[in-house]
Amino acid sequence: MDVAEIFETLEYGPAPESTREAMQWLDRFDRRFGLFIDGEWQMPRDAEMFETANPATGKPIAQVTQASADDVDAAVAAARKAFPKWQALGDHGRARYLYALARQVQKHSRLFAVIESLDNGKPIRESRDIDIPLVARHFYHHAGWAQLLSTEFPGYRPVGVVGQIIPWNFPLLMLAWKIAPALAAGNTVVLKPAEFTPLTALVFAQICQEIGLPNGVVNIVTGDGRTGEALVVHPDVDKIAFTGSTEVGRIIRTATAGSGKKLSLELGGKSPFLVFEDADLDSVVEGVVDAIWFNQGQVCCAGSRILAQEGIADLLVRKLRERMEKLRVGNPLDKAIDIGAIVAPVQLEKIRQLVDQGVAEGARIWQPSWSCPEDGCFFPPTLFTDVAPAATIAQVEIFGPVVVLMAFRTPAEAVELANNTRYGLAASIWSENINLALDVAPKLKAGTVWINCTNVFDAASGFGGYRESGFGREGGREGMWEYLEPAWMPRRADLRPAAASSPHAMDGGARQVNGVPPIDRTAKLYIGGKQVRPDQGFSLPVYTAKGELAGEVGRGNRKDIRNAVEAAHKAASWAQSTAHNRAQILYYIAENLQARSDEFVRRIQQLGAVSGRNARREVDTTIERLFHWAAWADKWDGYVHHTPYHNITLAMPEPIGVLGIVCSDHAPLLGFVSAIAPALAVGNTVVVIPSEAAPLLATDMYQVFDTSDLPGGVVNIVTGLRGELLETLAAHDDVDGLWYFAADDGSASVERLSAGNMKRTWVSNGYARDWFSAEQGAARDFLRHATQVKNIWVPYGE
Ligand code: NAI
Repeated sequence: MDVAEIFETLEYGPAPESTREAMQWLDRFDRRFGLFIDGEWQMPRDAEMFETANPATGKPIAQVTQASADDVDAAVAAARKAFPKWQALGDHGRARYLYALARQVQKHSRLFAVIESLDNGKPIRESRDIDIPLVARHFYHHAGWAQLLSTEFPGYRPVGVVGQIIPWNFPLLMLAWKIAPALAAGNTVVLKPAEFTPLTALVFAQICQEIGLPNGVVNIVTGDGRTGEALVVHPDVDKIAFTGSTEVGRIIRTATAGSGKKLSLELGGKSPFLVFEDADLDSVVEGVVDAIWFNQGQVCCAGSRILAQEGIADLLVRKLRERMEKLRVGNPLDKAIDIGAIVAPVQLEKIRQLVDQGVAEGARIWQPSWSCPEDGCFFPPTLFTDVAPAATIAQVEIFGPVVVLMAFRTPAEAVELANNTRYGLAASIWSENINLALDVAPKLKAGTVWINCTNVFDAASGFGGYRESGFGREGGREGMWEYLEPAWMPRRADLRPAAASSPHAMDGGARQVNGVPPIDRTAKLYIGGKQVRPDQGFSLPVYTAKGELAGEVGRGNRKDIRNAVEAAHKAASWAQSTAHNRAQILYYIAENLQARSDEFVRRIQQLGAVSGRNARREVDTTIERLFHWAAWADKWDGYVHHTPYHNITLAMPEPIGVLGIVCSDHAPLLGFVSAIAPALAVGNTVVVIPSEAAPLLATDMYQVFDTSDLPGGVVNIVTGLRGELLETLAAHDDVDGLWYFAADDGSASVERLSAGNMKRTWVSNGYARDWFSAEQGAARDFLRHATQVKNIWVPYGE
């Protein structure tokens, strides 16, 4: 027998990791855990307990407390009490604690890794070499942000008390992704781990005690969805950060609507894995292993849809099957195991059902010849071919070791198939042609694009979704914004939105004023670059400050909104035009407004009780604002993140898409232009509902747009009753984002109705923004809300 043959025939002996230290730790608590509130372990009297079990054996590990609404209340109160003290520590003080947490995670890394594998079922190789090192890295990175907070985020403050709810697939890593940025930004937190995997969060609570973290800065409440819900609806929580299913994300979006709570959601995915025919197929095979068999496929950004170019698809399938045959499923604590246990019997059942459905719908299933261990929750790696793009298994997040493979012919078809999903978390592209890869990456609707790699993460890079994969970013500078708010903003508790009031509430239509008939001047809607009559042909009167009729505007309805959204989609090539070109058009609009400024001054005076001087000031500020956003158009650059791998990570801001914008009545010209110009500068197309009281200032602008080379459909204006139009705009599935500036209680409807397609919202919470102030009317916040960051990982080296 030669050496090669010996290698081929070598058997793997068992190589189990010791659980002794972990067991000792559990025994110190008698395997019964209370809640970690205000720096102390608390065992609520008569508490409901639940069991957490080892999914590889089905055996119970420990009893954990189901926190009640009262317990959540106590935890939030502790976080609130701790907030001023945590603030008083200053940047460096907080940095020291984050640094101490990082060190402590490293010192206890083996304990964390073993408990994670016991509780979750993931292979020790992964918890030891991926999860826990990334946790430490996250705290180190954010110790840095804590140190730099005041210098890097001037004019911003922490949001306050943050409620954080995390899933079971990366229990400690998700905790780190939540707690590290929240603390670095100066917030205090209440975190709820997932009910299947609460244990490493409890070890973490202990290290908070060990480093002497001030009481109440971190509170850990265990429990199921009921505990999560209590946290979400708690009135004294200022922000909710959630990772989990899109279904629960939607519930949370609805539950927090109108509360003024800041929200970030990291939800599900069905991420495409594109293989072009010039890809290095052996690397691709290892990529697929990392994409879908890492963590048993229970990864939100798992590459669960392989799209292979026709010429290499069969070869790839053969190579994959060969590789799958060699994967090892079994005891997660065995260091030579590739795939561990599925987290819990219900998840295993869900995977089985979806796999059965895949077979029933006609797809071809392939699994290796060996079988999985009988005890415990195990499922073999599974590959589906002959899958129709609309099949359930090609659309639904399976969250298990199951991948589907479909073929494509051209790059354009690949992009179309890749984007044929409601999700948009991640994608990977495999090709040796960098031109092709970098051409495809911006076309994919996903928050992260990995080129010739997959499932790589780092604290310096933002991570988060497009579309129904949620909004907000975690990691890096991008992630820090989620835990900060502008210092000028009134505190949430001080906001009291007025009920929506309509200047037309009493109107049935045009009426006579001072005994003279109305002037027949009706401004139409502006859709697709054309002036169009409203669908139903109704109009609304617009009055001067003296109560005289100034003219009429069209009363748009839901059909008009739909037409406007369609026109905005058709104008999507605006995003591809160069930033220089967009800037030129904004300058041109400013130039043409200048030429007609006297007319606009008169109009402002006519419609509002405004002095000539102030009306002139509004027009002049509007022109300046156009210059401001034109200036930014080619300067809103991304970053190159320093991630510690052989790659460059390009953080590219991309437009949201079709943005709905609802204007306030305050400063109707300046407010209108200040809202749309930043959106346009970075490539969005917009559907605007202008000021209801003074819509003529917006409709007067279309002549300006028409003479400024603005392509039709980039700006669409639908006048009418705000309340009536808003519902359609907020619920519209083809609207990607919605800004609401009116100073009434409409923010609640916007947030509630946005849950359908998880559109990005930015709302006033009833606050009347001062459009004249540069801080409120021209801040970079506008650009941040007008874009979403895509991180493209490009490896280098041979
Ligand atoms: P889930 O979304 O129900 O649970 C995530 C977290 O939310 C847990 O801590 C849970 O206790 C909490 N939660 C549940 N209901 C809540 C409510 N009404 N209000 C507040 N918090 C609530 O996810 P689950 O049930 O664990 O898994 C179901 C499916 O979700 C999986 O099969 C998978 O497809 C997907 N999933 C996706 C994840 C991702 O990272 N994208 C993570 C976990 C699950």
